[in-house]
Amino acid sequence: MKNKLENIREESLRAIREAADLAGLDALRVQYLGKKGSLSAVLKQLGSLSAEERPQIGQLANVIRTSIEDALKERTEALQSALMERKLQEEAVDVTIPGTPVILGARHPLQIVWDECVDIFIGMGFQVAEGPEIELSEYDFDRLNIPEGHTVREWTDTFYITADEKVHLRCQTSPVQVRVMEKQNPPIRIVSPGRVFRKDEIDATHSPMFHQMEGLVVDKGITMGDLKGTLNVMLKRLYGPGTVTRFRPHHFPFTEPSCEVDVQCFECHGEGCRVCKGEGWIEVLGAGMVHPRVLAGCGIDPEEYSGFAFGVGLERLAMRRFSISDLRLMFENDVRFLRQFS
Ligand code: PHE
Repeated sequence: MKNKLENIREESLRAIREAADLAGLDALRVQYLGKKGSLSAVLKQLGSLSAEERPQIGQLANVIRTSIEDALKERTEALQSALMERKLQEEAVDVTIPGTPVILGARHPLQIVWDECVDIFIGMGFQVAEGPEIELSEYDFDRLNIPEGHTVREWTDTFYITADEKVHLRCQTSPVQVRVMEKQNPPIRIVSPGRVFRKDEIDATHSPMFHQMEGLVVDKGITMGDLKGTLNVMLKRLYGPGTVTRFRPHHFPFTEPSCEVDVQCFECHGEGCRVCKGEGWIEVLGAGMVHPRVLAGCGIDPEEYSGFAFGVGLERLAMRRFSISDLRLMFENDVRFLRQFS
């Protein structure tokens, strides 16, 4: 029986040392220490031994049980830490590897000046109004006091949608004035940036589609002084505090009096150079006091209220602001151009 026990010891310890995984170890535990295991089988036969052999063999069996238990424990720990080691290696993340760069886009130069203009006016208490790009001629022409036969109404100038000339792609943002005034009572303070369309050939300074921002203020006691003050604030914010402006008489059917506004050329300060084509001044927008007929047509009493309006071309602002020499660059969407504004 002693031999049997020694065999069990030898065989089990070797098996435990060689066990490849935790499941295998568990099977060995059952095989040697379990109720139906080899050690129990031997102990069951203790009764057949003599009184002096019994404690010796019993003691030996206990020593072997302990050493098997110790061996199991040791091997379990070794296998567990090997497993952990492998996991750590497999799941290791190298935080020093550079990530995949995210390519950031840039705002379009036109959007930059659009946002800038809107911000300036929001800062002065204006709201942003919107109008449709496909407009009724009633709003774009009739109610803006643009008479039948005016050149802008020609088919060669305007993109008509219907043959009866009642619907067309708006050629200015000014119809938004009418849309706002017929809905809203004064005081009115709005700007309205958006797309406009004219039958112009494409070249470095013309495009059949471009952008304007309309402005409209209507209240009691609004004067040309308010117009000048407001536009001076805008132009100084856009071109710097030292900007010199000039208000020149002009004609628009929907404003009276009307003016065009120039900024002194910042390149030559009025001397005349290549940038201003020798003029010394650069034209930036059209403006004027809202025509009494336009006010009245929208149900606003011109005896009680007055207002001013202006329209500014956004491409022109962007081109000057970023020294862009060709308008077409803004619509070609060449990323080499667009990337420069990030
Ligand atoms: N709508 C005019 C244009 O397109 C600009 C303008 C707007 C002039 C408002 C006066 C008042 O040229």
